Amino acid sequence: MKFFIDTGNSEEIREAAELGLLDGVTTNPSLLSKEPGDPYENLKQICAIVDGPVSAEVIAVDKDGMIAEARQLTRIAENIVIKLPTTREGVKACKTLTEDGVKVNMTLVFSPMQALLVAKAGATFVSPFVGRLDDISHDGMELVSQIGRIYGNYGYETEILVASVRHPLHVVEAALMGADICTMPAKVLEQIFNHPLTDIGLEKFLSDWEKTKQ
Ligand code: E4P
Repeated sequence: MKFFIDTGNSEEIREAAELGLLDGVTTNPSLLSKEPGDPYENLKQICAIVDGPVSAEVIAVDKDGMIAEARQLTRIAENIVIKLPTTREGVKACKTLTEDGVKVNMTLVFSPMQALLVAKAGATFVSPFVGRLDDISHDGMELVSQIGRIYGNYGYETEILVASVRHPLHVVEAALMGADICTMPAKVLEQIFNHPLTDIGLEKFLSDWEKTKQ
């Protein structure tokens, strides 16, 4: 499974990249709005830190506006992926852009039918938002499982990018379901490294080793 980081913060991205396990970045307008400076300059900086895809979302809500904005965004760097909302206009823009060879990440996906539509429109990535579904007492990971089955039935190559991840269990479940990618906030990326038994075990090994010097 590929690991993406879900942030607009260059420092968090740099730290994650240093792990040597980072495959890409997802941003959104809310995440970029938290960072100081020009968001387009920030995206440029982010694209220089990672080799993998960096999702940048359009603000326009009509097909032509989305396409025009996508053309601007793709000029930022070669690894920019265009993030489009999964609306009627977004799906139409997705079809046009993918036919032109632009990589598209369809975001704000909350139903299996939305996922089927974006695959038919040629999306490179589909982003089911699991945490936001859990927030309203729906099973976010069940959506990922359904998308996996639907794509498997028809051989769609759209990659399943599990988004709106809130905790390490989402990452575990995404991996068990065979999702292609999990994008996680820096906090969750940090949490998946931790296990109390590893810490206790290491402490014991080191203190026992110290005894050999006495
Ligand atoms: C994914 O691409 C989105 O940026 C993100 O995962 C949204 O997560 P949130 O529900 O925590 O805002």
